[in-house]
Amino acid sequence: MFLKQIQTRRSIRKFTDRSVDKEIIDQLIEAALRAPSSRDFRPWRFIVVDQPDLLAKLADAKPHGASFLKNAPLGFVVCGDPDGSDVWVEDCAIASTFIHLAAHDLGLGSCWIQIRKRDRSPDKTADAYIKELLDIPDNMAVESIIAIGYPDETKSGHSKTALAYDKVFFNHFGKAMP
Ligand SMILES: Cc1cc2nc3c(=O)[nH]c(=O)nc-3n(C[C@H](O)[C@H](O)[C@H](O)COP(=O)(O)O)c2cc1C
Repeated sequence: MFLKQIQTRRSIRKFTDRSVDKEIIDQLIEAALRAPSSRDFRPWRFIVVDQPDLLAKLADAKPHGASFLKNAPLGFVVCGDPDGSDVWVEDCAIASTFIHLAAHDLGLGSCWIQIRKRDRSPDKTADAYIKELLDIPDNMAVESIIAIGYPDETKSGHSKTALAYDKVFFNHFGKAMP
């Protein structure tokens, strides 16, 4: 059940050595391509990366929050075409989420790595570094990388009592739930 998947979903950053079979990768690709997009423009591009040397280099795209990718067997680099849609960021974010949730449903763990608006160093963005590495055309932008693999850590879903119900209002902003 979909809600069960959402209740148990967490970001997983530790992976076993087990590789991800092609049929499973195919299902992740299909999930990404089934994501909704504004006016159905589909401004995304997905680069499926399974070469360990490339994953290790991608793990170095930014100084914090990406290093675990070098131990993942698989990464989905999610790019968007800013000329293809004015809301490519939203479209790419939704597709990234679809990949993350599909991975969980397939028994995999995954974690979003933010690339857009992140710097690799004072004079190079993470986006520019990845574009060079993967031959991505200049007119594209990299939104995220989803690191994927079989989980080597166990995390419980967030308990219902820990959810931020104080951020939910009824009818007017600031009006608490009845
Ligand atoms: C837009 C976005 C960007 C994120 N960027 C990173 C990142 O660069 N590195 C990382 O380790 N986790 C990243 N995460 C994962 C969050 O840290 C994680 O979702 C959050 O801590 C809540 O944990 P949970 O997913 O296990 O509920 C990102 C998540 C989102 C939605």
